[in-house]
Amino acid sequence: MEAYEKSFLVASGAVLVAFLLALAYSVFAMGISMPGRMEMIACTADQKLRKVLRVTPPFDNPGVHETAPGKFDVVVIGQTWSFAPDNIELPVGAEVTFRATSSDVIHGFMIVGTNVNMMLVPGEVSSETYKFSRPGEYLLLCHEYCGRLHHTMSGKVVVK
Ligand code: CUA
Repeated sequence: MEAYEKSFLVASGAVLVAFLLALAYSVFAMGISMPGRMEMIACTADQKLRKVLRVTPPFDNPGVHETAPGKFDVVVIGQTWSFAPDNIELPVGAEVTFRATSSDVIHGFMIVGTNVNMMLVPGEVSSETYKFSRPGEYLLLCHEYCGRLHHTMSGKVVVK
C-alpha cells in the first residue's frame, strides 16, 4: 500500500470519528434530539377538534401570557388559512415559549430569522422556546402545504 493511500484511509477514518463525536456531543451535551412523542390533546373520533380546542387549556385562551417577569407563553392555533393570533407583540428580551397546535390539517410554524420552526399536527402540541433579543418585525409563516390558500397563511411577531 502506498503511503498516500494510507493517509487517505486515516483521513477518512478521522472524519468519521469526528462526525460521530459531533453527533454524540449534540445529543448528550446539548440535548438536541429528534421530535419525540408530543403532548396530545384528548379528542375522540366523534368530537370536532376545533370545538375541543375551544375548551382545552391552554388553547381555550390563545395569545400572549406573561408567566414570570420577561417570560412569556404564546399560545397559537393554526387553522386553514390563518394563525390565531396572527399579530404577536412582545417586549425586547422576551423569553418566549410557543405552544401551538392545529385545529384541522398539518400546518407549519416558522418565524423567519429565528430558529423557531415547528410542524403543527392536529391533536398534538408543539412547543419551542426562543429569546427575542433584537427589536423588529418577524414574519410568521406556514411552511407546510395546507391547501389552496397556503401561501396566504402568515402572521407577524412584533418585538419592541
Ligand atoms: Cu397552513 Cu400552509
